[in-house]
Amino acid sequence: MLARLTPRKINDLRKDVLGKAVPASFTLFVATKDDIPAIITLAEKEFGPDTFDHVMYKHYITKGHSLLFGLKQKEKVAAWMMIELNRRQKRIYVTEIVTAKQHRGRGLAKWLWGKVFLLAETLGYKTVTSHVEPSNKKAIALYRKLGMETERRINDYYVSGEDAFYMKREI
Ligand SMILES: CC(C)(COP(=O)(O)OP(=O)(O)OC[C@H]1O[C@@H](n2cnc3c(N)ncnc32)[C@H](O)[C@@H]1OP(=O)(O)O)[C@@H](O)C(=O)NCCC(=O)NCCS
Repeated sequence: MLARLTPRKINDLRKDVLGKAVPASFTLFVATKDDIPAIITLAEKEFGPDTFDHVMYKHYITKGHSLLFGLKQKEKVAAWMMIELNRRQKRIYVTEIVTAKQHRGRGLAKWLWGKVFLLAETLGYKTVTSHVEPSNKKAIALYRKLGMETERRINDYYVSGEDAFYMKREI
């Protein structure tokens, strides 16, 4: 079985993977509980009733099988990605990725995805997967460009009743 994400392991990843080639004027952050309010404020604008609550974000931030990391500009969250690591299936699942509106179109999401593929490679994971709404053309365009392929369509997946594409890339 692959290793759990201990604080020490996260520190190593911060040095060797996540902190490398950070876009100019941004700084890397690995979220702590203090970041949750800012993240929820941004997430609510994007996901409405599908937004996770404080307890869920805390869970993702503090447990050894998940990670929330991203970029800040002048101490403000600009973009983040939340991931779940399934050690048994050697699969990293991207739970969500958001770029704040004023920072879009500058490659921040592409940078975050580059990091998740690199993390997968570094830690020995074999696939990266995610769900996306079929109407989310921007995200789908991005995911296809990154080599993600649609594995299946799931009916009535989101709270809104929208379907989801389950997308996947082998590492
Ligand atoms: C989808 C999202 C994360 C993209 O973030 P971003 O930082 O603006 O993306 P990037 O600048 O890295 O763009 C990467 C690619 O995304 C696609 N893309 C980004 N903006 C786009 C737009 N306005 N129209 C079409 N495609 C677009 C393009 O393929 C682009 O590649 P290119 O620059 O080579 O053309 C952002 O729009 C967002 O936060 N949306 C709301 C939350 C969401 O839907 N998350 C995904 C599901 S969890």
